[in-house]
Amino acid sequence: MDQFLITGSSRIAGEVTISGAKNAALPLLAAMILAETPTTLHNVPSLQDVRTLIELIGGMGINIQKQGDTVTCDTKSIDNFYAPYDLVKTMRASILVLGPLLARFGEAEVSLPGGCAIGSRPVDQHLKAFEAMGATITVENGYVIAQAPKGGKLLGCKFSFDMVTVGGTENVIMAAALAKGTTILGNCALEPEVVDLANMLVAMGAKISGIGTATMTIEGVERLHGCEYSVVPDRIETGSYLAGALMTRGDVLTKNTSALLLAPVLEKFEDMGAIITTGEDWIRAQMKGRPKSVDIRTQPHPGFPTDMQAQVMAIACLADGTSTFIENIFENRYMHVPELNRLGASIQVDGHTAVVKGVECFTAAPVMATDLRASMSLVMAVAAAEGESLIDRIYHIDRGYEHVEDKLRALGVNIERINSNN
Ligand code: UD1
Repeated sequence: MDQFLITGSSRIAGEVTISGAKNAALPLLAAMILAETPTTLHNVPSLQDVRTLIELIGGMGINIQKQGDTVTCDTKSIDNFYAPYDLVKTMRASILVLGPLLARFGEAEVSLPGGCAIGSRPVDQHLKAFEAMGATITVENGYVIAQAPKGGKLLGCKFSFDMVTVGGTENVIMAAALAKGTTILGNCALEPEVVDLANMLVAMGAKISGIGTATMTIEGVERLHGCEYSVVPDRIETGSYLAGALMTRGDVLTKNTSALLLAPVLEKFEDMGAIITTGEDWIRAQMKGRPKSVDIRTQPHPGFPTDMQAQVMAIACLADGTSTFIENIFENRYMHVPELNRLGASIQVDGHTAVVKGVECFTAAPVMATDLRASMSLVMAVAAAEGESLIDRIYHIDRGYEHVEDKLRALGVNIERINSNN
């Protein structure tokens, strides 16, 4: 297993080009299954999760290729509608193939994703919506076996999600795009990645109104065609690198990104004392002194994103004053806390609340990455700490941050990948 050796304390400063969003690329890749003619997707990041989904889709007999940041997909030769446990277990987003398979081919057999490090994360809302569309769903030996009603087509329906779910909204709008009749979906997720998917579906011939609002109306069409589309920039990658500037009195310019996507995070960065300047496709964060404390409540978009909670907590560890965090999305998303405390932070967790008493500096220590975003908070924290730190289990970071060492080096971080098998 690879590890990172990071020698702090670096001032994180420089320019970094942001990749396409992992969380948009995954549903867009799944949506390619819906198209009867070839689809081309640009700005697709080279990440483990993307490779996993391409392998999963390729395993259905679909011709899907990635060259550079472009993926082309032709579904003509599809010969099975099956997503095996071995691939699905490594990535929960694999469940996103269920909606497209069921809608287009009338059947699908997809392994249940099971639990994951940041909570149990069920998919009951996805399945409930498919049932409302007339599908028969059974779970056998850990697999969801789904069958469309007689005639092979899902039926449009009125359905409201019990809670805001990003993946649920995505799965169901893909399915509704090819359903017979109109689907009215309530309590939809408003995340930019959901909007990106809806826009791509429209480019494929889908009829969707209310995009970017809580109620979407999808008028099912007979067939969808291929299109050429580009993935939105990764707002979480953007925020993660900008966070480095706040922790180290640094100066980071992120390019090929969008300030509009990151507004709730940029507001908090300003509250913490950063000078934020933005242009059409760039954001710069400059930090002159010690960060100020902050209060964060994670919420569905346009609230503060749970995927930035760990990185902002790492900044708050060094703040002048006490910060409070309330995690409202996932029940077990404070696994970075013991690791940050090993670096000298002072954080106490009580249920969903974490209270962070600011300290002057981090001290180097060996730490362990626990999930994707938590890993980045640790990278930034050890980059700010004086001395050498080893980060274990960095496969988490490879799932979601493209060319992470190159980008960190460009920002002045002294980082080396160590293959512990050598
Ligand atoms: C997506 C993102 C993830 C982000 C999360 C919340 C991708 C690939 N991942 O995950 O990075 O942290 O949104 O912004 O886009 N829930 C249920 N039943 C369901 C579905 C969800 O109870 O059927 C719960 C989950 O357990 C969780 C909450 O709803 O507590 C939100 O989950 P959801 O929005 O679905 O997250 P993901 O789509 O898995």
